Amino acid sequence: MQPARIMEILDVVEKAAIASAEWNGKGDKVAVDQAATTAMREALNAIDFAGRIVIGEGERDEAPMLYIGEEVGRGGEEIDIAVDPLEGTNLCAFNKPNALTTIAIAPRGALLFAPDTYLQKIAAGPAAAGAVHIDKTPAENVAAVAEALGKPVGEVSVCILDRDRHKDLVQAVRDAGARVRLIGDGDVFGAIATAVPGTGIDLYMGAGGAPEGVLAAVGLKAIGGVFMGRLRFDLDRDGEEKRCRAEQTADVDLDGVLTMDMLVRTDDAAFLACGVTDGEMVSGVSKAHGCVTTESIIMNAADQTVRFIKTCRRGENGSVRFD
Ligand code: FBP
Repeated sequence: MQPARIMEILDVVEKAAIASAEWNGKGDKVAVDQAATTAMREALNAIDFAGRIVIGEGERDEAPMLYIGEEVGRGGEEIDIAVDPLEGTNLCAFNKPNALTTIAIAPRGALLFAPDTYLQKIAAGPAAAGAVHIDKTPAENVAAVAEALGKPVGEVSVCILDRDRHKDLVQAVRDAGARVRLIGDGDVFGAIATAVPGTGIDLYMGAGGAPEGVLAAVGLKAIGGVFMGRLRFDLDRDGEEKRCRAEQTADVDLDGVLTMDMLVRTDDAAFLACGVTDGEMVSGVSKAHGCVTTESIIMNAADQTVRFIKTCRRGENGSVRFD
């Protein structure tokens, strides 16, 4: 994606983060999600492009804004957009780390229309990209990452969503000798963090949302990491119904391995996320000296870059200070 387009989308994730942060720690999940979605939609609609939401807040009849198929923008270049306006609604509502506003953009038709069900996932950064596979056992993957990163298995850290369904996985990783970093929510962060030095996360494994999987896959593909998935309708209460619907439209094998190239069918996509609450990858929204400061990460396939952007928005009498 062209730098000018990236800057426009950066503004979108920043505005959504600032709006969400107003609700940080207030315990209101609905209000926080609404704030993020409204701000994101408003900002997307101010861009000169023909945006189409392919991963969004749900189907048209269940989501008033940023629903799948919604057209955004003022017209122009045709771009497909995956959004999770607030990834980790609970994290923000209860002031826990790593709530992010997230967007991925790609040329029209390039992102998989992932069904809103579960996806078994594995993700690793560029150094371990060729070493892991979703069909390997946890012990095999941990050993492969240790070898690829040149460190003992005991120092490999695996991020996993803290869910009952992952009890065996957690045990298997610990039995293999690796460390487990459990997160309450937010597996886009968990997957992307494997490619970001300093987060302390080497490998992500487990089942989470399929839409979130596409967002993470864009980032990892852009920077040469790896992401693989397999749909898990069996974990979903409405799995059977969702599988039937997916069978009508899917252009992938619903039981097969979904590689990054199936999830993201282009070499020209970009992933952007802005911190809402403080985290290991980016800081959350902060206010000081009349300024609002945000930190974002951009992974852009076009120039194979990862950028960390700190933006200060000066209020009328604000002064910019990078403390
Ligand atoms: P939200 O964006 O709706 O807050 O999702 C948070 C999340 O933790 C995702 O990161 C993850 O993929 C999914 O929920 C896991 O779903 P479940 O909570 O049903 O296990």
